[in-house]
Amino acid sequence: MRQKIVAGNWKMNNDKAETKALIKGIKKAIKKLSLKNTRVIISPSYINLSAAIKKADNSKIEVAAQNMHQAKNGAYTGEISADMLKSINIETVIIGHSERREYFNETDSILAEKMDAVLANGLEAIFCFGEKLEERKSDNHFAVVESQLKNALFHLEAANFKNIVLAYEPVWAIGTGETASPEQAQEMHAFVRETISKKFGKEVADNVSILYGGSVKPANAEEIFSKPDVDGGLIGGASLKAEDFAAIIKAI
Ligand code: PGA
Repeated sequence: MRQKIVAGNWKMNNDKAETKALIKGIKKAIKKLSLKNTRVIISPSYINLSAAIKKADNSKIEVAAQNMHQAKNGAYTGEISADMLKSINIETVIIGHSERREYFNETDSILAEKMDAVLANGLEAIFCFGEKLEERKSDNHFAVVESQLKNALFHLEAANFKNIVLAYEPVWAIGTGETASPEQAQEMHAFVRETISKKFGKEVADNVSILYGGSVKPANAEEIFSKPDVDGGLIGGASLKAEDFAAIIKAI
């Protein structure tokens, strides 16, 4: 059975005190939930990962990084390696978020290298992809998503997928308040599962969790999560408030 996951992408928000306070709030808000087969992940900024891990200790909350460099080490000012993440017990890292693609020029081929580095280090990737507004308007969204998957993942092996979570995030729905309809999400998730199935086999496709991201809120989470191929969410804005994040977790 594939896992249900609600992951919060905090982006460049929350200083150290705010990080600790938000984790405290989430812990309290989800304490009584049974959360069977459901993972709860948060991804604070690099600088607060250690504090977050400490604060999340003894709870259901897992802490992930928002990005990672593909090289082992070296002259890459400002970057963070897999070894550094592992040394503070980080096990999961978000790769290929649309903001990384857009503002930091992360191309499919860089993302393929990042995936290699993540997997070679025994880490887990939450791999993000999704079309832009013009691409959906011109009816190219399936082709765009297929090429993003092919270019960054198709060189991998089926066995790697036990360490991969997929996250479909249509760029036009991120931080815009506009969300894909549950039907649009389901249609794309089914397409992604089919694409993975054709390349890596049905078992891999049936077991990989595919999250939806883009303006998920307490008010729309339940309907989106009710779709059969939607296994959870990657939540930006609404993950910054403990009550909203907990309400989304409850909706799964
Ligand atoms: P949003 O962000 O929920 O604020 O739209 C989602 C994301 O970027 O992962």
